[in-house]
Amino acid sequence: MRPLFSCLFLGFGLAVGVTHALAEALPLSEWRRELAAKPQGDAARGGALYAERGCAGCHGPDGMADDRPGPMLAGQRPLYLYKMLLDYQAGRMAGADAAIMASVVREPSRQDMADLAEWLGALLRPAAAEAPEPPIVRGDRKRLIPPCSACHGAHGQGWDLQPALRGQNRDYLVKALQRFKKGERSNDVNAGMSQFAVKLTDEEIRALADYYGR
Ligand code: HEC
Ligand code: HEC
Repeated sequence: MRPLFSCLFLGFGLAVGVTHALAEALPLSEWRRELAAKPQGDAARGGALYAERGCAGCHGPDGMADDRPGPMLAGQRPLYLYKMLLDYQAGRMAGADAAIMASVVREPSRQDMADLAEWLGALLRPAAAEAPEPPIVRGDRKRLIPPCSACHGAHGQGWDLQPALRGQNRDYLVKALQRFKKGERSNDVNAGMSQFAVKLTDEEIRALADYYGR
């Protein structure tokens, strides 16, 4: 029994180590302070940085990431983009894909991030594939699931820190919702997503991604 036990302990230790490597989500009060200090973004400079830093390789020219490894960025809410870049830099996002972004944003300053967000946010948001609306979009009172529109807007267009969902890559939407559901993404302020995502079924997640995504 002994060797098995020590293996389990070693496994446990490693798992704890990995969990600890993830920086904790910032509370709302600290985000308020952080966002109040956000520099004004310069879109022209942001466009130049986007080209210089090779963002297009994974997110496509003009933020249109169709068939590329990164999510769609064109027309995403600037404040959300800015927050995500800070989250990657501070190590608040877990997983191998987040590690790619963490290395991409090791250097950029807050001014760089504000400029990138300003430029990307002003680009044309791509259309969704227009799959039929699944009932879960309107939430489920019995299971205490709020309607998506309460935070993401009537058309999934997003607002402030609530990202646009419409036009996002389908696979990325599934990945994001599964991460919230499994507790692998905890950078959402006040657990705004994680508190109910855990109740979504895999079928509902697929239907939501079909509806909002492309
Ligand atoms: C080598 C590929 C690669 C490069 C280069 C890259 N990204 Fe990313 N980016 C990704 C991947 C993959 C993700 C998804 C990460 C995850 O799942 O956590 C991502 C996620 C993001 C997100 C989060 C979007 C969302 O909806 O949550 C933003 C913002 C972003 N990248 C901006 C940029 C910018 C700006 C640059 C250039 C400075 C850049 N990326 C360069 C691969 C890349
Ligand atoms: C209480 C407000 C709230 C509700 C209701 C809500 N969301 Fe969110 N959602 C957020 C916030 C805030 C974020 C950004 C989290 C962060 O900062 O990382 C988010 C992020 C997401 C993301 C990640 C997007 C990306 O680019 O990484 C997806 C996908 C998403 N929500 C889908 C949904 C769906 C589908 C519903 C309805 C079932 C829904 N949300 C309902 C607040 C909400």
